[in-house]
Amino acid sequence: MSELALSLRDVVVEYRRRRGLFGAASINRAVNGVSFDVRFGESFGLVGESGSGKSTTARAALGLEPLAAGNVELDGIQLAHASGAQLRQMRARSQLVFQDPYSSLDPSMTIGQSLAEPLRVHRPYSATERRQRVAEALRAVGLDSAQANRHPQEFSGGQRQRICIARAMILDPAVIVLDEPVSALDVSTQGQILNLLLDLQKTHGTTYLLISHDLSMVRNMTHRMAVMYLGRIVETGPSQRVFSRPGHPYTAALISAILEPHRDRQRQRRRILIDGDMPSSWSPPPGCCFHTRCPFAMDICGRVVPATIAMEGGGEAACHLHTEGPGLAGRSVLELLMYTRRTPQRRLI
Ligand SMILES: Nc1ncnc2c1ncn2[C@@H]1O[C@H](COP(=O)(O)OP(=O)(O)OP(=O)(O)O)[C@@H](O)[C@H]1O
Ligand SMILES: [Mg+2]
Repeated sequence: MSELALSLRDVVVEYRRRRGLFGAASINRAVNGVSFDVRFGESFGLVGESGSGKSTTARAALGLEPLAAGNVELDGIQLAHASGAQLRQMRARSQLVFQDPYSSLDPSMTIGQSLAEPLRVHRPYSATERRQRVAEALRAVGLDSAQANRHPQEFSGGQRQRICIARAMILDPAVIVLDEPVSALDVSTQGQILNLLLDLQKTHGTTYLLISHDLSMVRNMTHRMAVMYLGRIVETGPSQRVFSRPGHPYTAALISAILEPHRDRQRQRRRILIDGDMPSSWSPPPGCCFHTRCPFAMDICGRVVPATIAMEGGGEAACHLHTEGPGLAGRSVLELLMYTRRTPQRRLI
C-alpha cells in the first residue's frame, strides 16, 4: 500500500465566463499546476491570501471539481481514470469539514440521524451497529452519546463543529479536509477544537489537509505545508523550516505580518511588508505570479515562470532569486535582506 493518502500532480482547475452573447470566453485558472503529497497520519497545511485557490484545490483533491489538467490520487485511486464505483469509494474515503458549523448540519435531522447517514449509504451495518458507531463517534469528540436524539439548533457553535468532525471521522476516511475549521468560532472554543483535532490524530492516525488564513495555527498544527499565490504553489516544505527560513519572498512577507514584536524582535528588524492587492486570476501577470508585488523582482521575473528549487532543510520554492541575481541557491530569503543591507521595516510598492 502507498504511504500517500493524497497526491496532486500538476492539477489545473478553470472557471470560464463569456462577456455578452458573442464575446470571447475568458478563463480563470483558479488552480494552476498544483502538485503536493499528503502522507498517511500527517497534517498538511495550505495557506495564502483570500482568492489564492485554497478551497478550489481542496475541492479538486476530493473529486468535487472537474480537472482541466493533471491528476489526483486519493488512497491509491486515480481520479482521472476512476470508474463510477471507485468514485463512490473515493467519496467515502475523503471528508470535508467547513468553516461554518451552523449551515453544515441539516436542522430537520437529529444529530444521530446525520451521523448515521454516511454509514447507511456506505456500510452494510444493522440499525443496532449504526447506533453503536454513532455513540462511539460522539464520545470520541467529547460529546455524550445520549445527545444523539437532539437537533443541531440545540448545540453551541463549538459543539456543532465537534459533531461535524464526528461525522467526518465516522467512515474512517483516508483524509479529512479542514477548510478554515475554527474561524467562525470564538477564540477559547477555537483552542478546544484544535486540541480535539490533534488528539484524534494521535489516537486514530487521522490525515488532515488544513486550510487556513491563520499562519500561527498552521505552524502549530501541521507537519508540512504549501503556500499558494494566485492559483500556484510558490513554496512547500516542513512547516518549521518554512517558518524559520522561508525560501520565497511571499512566504517571508506572510510570516513577517504575524511576528510578535516582543518575542520575534530579531526577525522584526528584517520585516517585509507587502502592499497592494493580489492581481485577479482572470488576468494573471506573466512570468512569476508574485513579481508585481515582490520587493526583489528582477527583469527575468516578469518574463519567465520560475522553476522550483530544492530548499536546504526540505521542500521547494519557486523563485528566480535562487538561480539569478544574488543566487540564494536554496537558502532563506532572510539572508538576502542581510546581504542587501536593506533598511528594516521596508514598505514595499
Ligand atoms: N464557482 C466559481 N466560479 C467562478 N470562479 C470561482 C468559483 N469559485 C472560486 N472561484 C474563483 O477562483 C479563485 C480561487 O478561489 P478560492 O475560493 O479557491 O480561494 P481561497 O483561497 O479558498 O479563498 P478564501 O481564503 O477567501 O476562502 C478566485 O479567483 C475565485 O474568485
Ligand atoms: Mg476558501
